[in-house]
Amino acid sequence: MKIDILTLFPEMFKGVFDESIIKRALDKKIIEIDIHNIRDYSKDPHKKVDDTPYGGGPGMVLMCQPIFDAVKDLRTSESKVILLTPSGALYNQKQAFLFSKEKHLIIICGHYEGFDERIKTICDYEISIGDYVLTGGEIPAMILVDSITRLIDGTIKEESYLNESFTNNLLDYPNYTKPRVFEGLEVPEVLVSGDHEKISKWRLDKQIELTKLNRPLLLKGDESDD
Ligand code: ADE
Repeated sequence: MKIDILTLFPEMFKGVFDESIIKRALDKKIIEIDIHNIRDYSKDPHKKVDDTPYGGGPGMVLMCQPIFDAVKDLRTSESKVILLTPSGALYNQKQAFLFSKEKHLIIICGHYEGFDERIKTICDYEISIGDYVLTGGEIPAMILVDSITRLIDGTIKEESYLNESFTNNLLDYPNYTKPRVFEGLEVPEVLVSGDHEKISKWRLDKQIELTKLNRPLLLKGDESDD
């Protein structure tokens, strides 16, 4: 998959994709990431990318021209354009999975007070990563890249994500490792019983128990788009 990220702060991406699973996916050419400075597309003599909002109000608004030109330059028939904004549709694992099947993503990081509404006309998706406002779309873009990359065939083993949190609208079951007793805290007996049927049942019960406790709406399907 090809991922193009449009940002006013390319330096923020230094290092984040240089470790662990994302680095491996880059090395294995499962993904290719290009970071583009929106300012490079500005036709303004001073490389201006934002201006005051019509109608008044605080802050500056990202202008259409640099974004339109960047998307025109990068877009192919296989591209999906994603605009990151706190006003977008709430991102979840199901959406990450759908994005992981795409060939080319163009991710636009919004900034300042916002962006010219007409930018939405060239986007396929408006995505928010949560009900809070960040200083810009850079960290959301990193979250998208991470969550999508791990779901692309060949990055990690499928079994690693089949039973994890949010698959089947359930949170993950608890895990334990050696030693069996640590500072008086014991590993549940069933996990060392060797009875795989019992272990599977225990894990499912724990998933339901934890989801009821921490994310009751997820269990009812209210927090997913199903
Ligand atoms: N930009 C600022 N806050 C954001 C959020 N929650 N999701 C996506 N983009 C954002």
